[in-house]
Amino acid sequence: MEKNAHPYRSVLYMPGSKERALEKAKTLAADALILDLEDAVAPSEKPAARELVAKAVEAGGYGRRKLIVRVNGLDTEWGVADLSRAAKAGPDAILLPKVESAADIHRVTDHLADHGAPASTRVWAMMETPRGILNAAEIAAAHPLLEGFVLGTNDLVKDLGAAHTPDRTPILTSLSLCLLAARAEGLVCVDGVYNAFKDDEGLREQCIQGRDMGFDGKTLIHPAQLAVTNETFAPSEDDLALAKEQVSAFEEAEKRGEGVAVVNGKIVENLHVVTARRLLARAEAIAALEAEAV
Ligand code: COA
Ligand code: MG
Repeated sequence: MEKNAHPYRSVLYMPGSKERALEKAKTLAADALILDLEDAVAPSEKPAARELVAKAVEAGGYGRRKLIVRVNGLDTEWGVADLSRAAKAGPDAILLPKVESAADIHRVTDHLADHGAPASTRVWAMMETPRGILNAAEIAAAHPLLEGFVLGTNDLVKDLGAAHTPDRTPILTSLSLCLLAARAEGLVCVDGVYNAFKDDEGLREQCIQGRDMGFDGKTLIHPAQLAVTNETFAPSEDDLALAKEQVSAFEEAEKRGEGVAVVNGKIVENLHVVTARRLLARAEAIAALEAEAV
């Protein structure tokens, strides 16, 4: 987490075939954009979308937003061409769907190396199949270019034969396995989408759940989901005030030669200060991002 200062509170999918959405994204308050060539694009539109997305990446104009291109699986008829074209355009990252093993990641990193992709282009993995989830640890450690996991909860629910329930009990084990693997390797980890894009309260509850589990942010399908998500995944004023109090109380304690402080009747040790400082750094990174021009 620490090695990735850029916040990933809101990661908005958009169909790579929709020029209007690609244009509109330049003014949206998303921390990152997934320009999709996979499931949001019909087979007949795939070649045109590939070119549209590559041209959008090359033209730029997305400011502070990280650009992530989701290619089709490399075993489909479009995947390798998507990867070649996207690598040439040089987005911040390429997102591979349905990753099931370290070997899947190596196919992408080998391809990037062979095709002279910019060194800044990283790799992200969709975690969305039972085998992929079971191999999360191996995948997370596959390659230094791997930067993040994106949970594909719709595919996962489908493959498990599970149901979409409000508390997500059927997929909690899968979410946690991915988080464990991501945190073990210092990767970013972004939660799956909330399908009912007009239901703000349902979205907020799911954002809170994901945030409290440890996700960096959430993938989104519609711009109407941005405000709630950005707010929920940013530290609140109360969180920040407490963090500052903990840091200063601990520093005072240290001056007195003590290793422990007490704030609001709760113990503050070194490890709590690490969490507090991380929260403050995250708030600073968000403020810096939001201060940049649209
Ligand atoms: N990214 C950027 N802009 C988007 C957007 C998105 N994901 N979804 C909608 N918009 C834009 C529309 O282009 C429209 O812009 P305009 O006012 O300039 O015309 C505006 O937001 C309002 O759109 P709206 O009419 O409310 O939505 P819709 O009915 O056109 O589309 C969806 C609804 C769900 C089909 C659409 O949001 C979508 O395609 N989402 C992404 C789906 C996806 O990528 N899935 C793959 C991963 S799960
Ligand atoms: Mg999927």
